[in-house]
Amino acid sequence: MRVIAIANQKGGVGKTTVTMQLGAALSRRRRVLVVDVDRQQSTVWWAENVRDRLPFDFAGNQHLNVLTRLRELQVEYDFVLVDTPGNLEDTPVLETALNAADFVVVPLTPEPLAVEPTLRTIHRLVEPRQLRHAVLLNRIDARIPSQLNTWRELLDATWGVPRFDTYLRQYKTQAEAPVLGDLVTTLRDNRRTAGTISDVTRVGLEMTQQFAPALSGRW
Ligand SMILES: Nc1ncnc2c1ncn2[C@@H]1O[C@H](COP(=O)(O)OP(=O)(O)OP(=O)(O)O)[C@@H](O)[C@H]1O
Ligand SMILES: [Mg+2]
Repeated sequence: MRVIAIANQKGGVGKTTVTMQLGAALSRRRRVLVVDVDRQQSTVWWAENVRDRLPFDFAGNQHLNVLTRLRELQVEYDFVLVDTPGNLEDTPVLETALNAADFVVVPLTPEPLAVEPTLRTIHRLVEPRQLRHAVLLNRIDARIPSQLNTWRELLDATWGVPRFDTYLRQYKTQAEAPVLGDLVTTLRDNRRTAGTISDVTRVGLEMTQQFAPALSGRW
């Protein structure tokens, strides 16, 4: 079992989106549990809209104890994804989730204002715990050709933080998914949805490869 925390103290960078969509992508081949410890409970509302098409087990509205209990119970999941709060008041909640994590996905949108809180999250909360982690660029605008490379270079050369090679582009399909109750596993593959499906699928593959060779052979 791998516990993956989706974390960034900057709000609105895509933690909930990544948790739900990555959970769905991984659930195609793995046993997945999604846990929400954010009192905003965004995943709960999304999951309610997905209803019986939810492809993973879901533990919304959870007290943090659930994370420590999981290990005690030796629950048989390949991945447990934990959506965490994106505000400073809830730092203790985030810290407890990080204490239970094996890996941290740090979503980052290409906005100057997101940089400082993201680096602070990594330097103050993730690195001191010696947790494996990677930034995942989200909401990349396909109409701005230089954007992806600019932000990759900043991550690699300027800030020196690990990142996913894969990334998520900005799509209406992603923005509408919570209210429509969609996940990559429920979307019909067509011209409108193909970008979202392929982006999330690629991130899922890279996530699995982070734990290779133990798990990747089963893809
Ligand atoms: N790739 C994307 N394309 C389009 N819209 C996106 C994308 N990723 C996220 N969004 C939208 O951006 C908003 C913020 O995303 P989300 O709620 O996942 O962020 P968050 O980090 O969980 O926020 P919070 O810190 O408030 O919990 C949402 O309206 C979501 O639908
Ligand atoms: Mg959220």
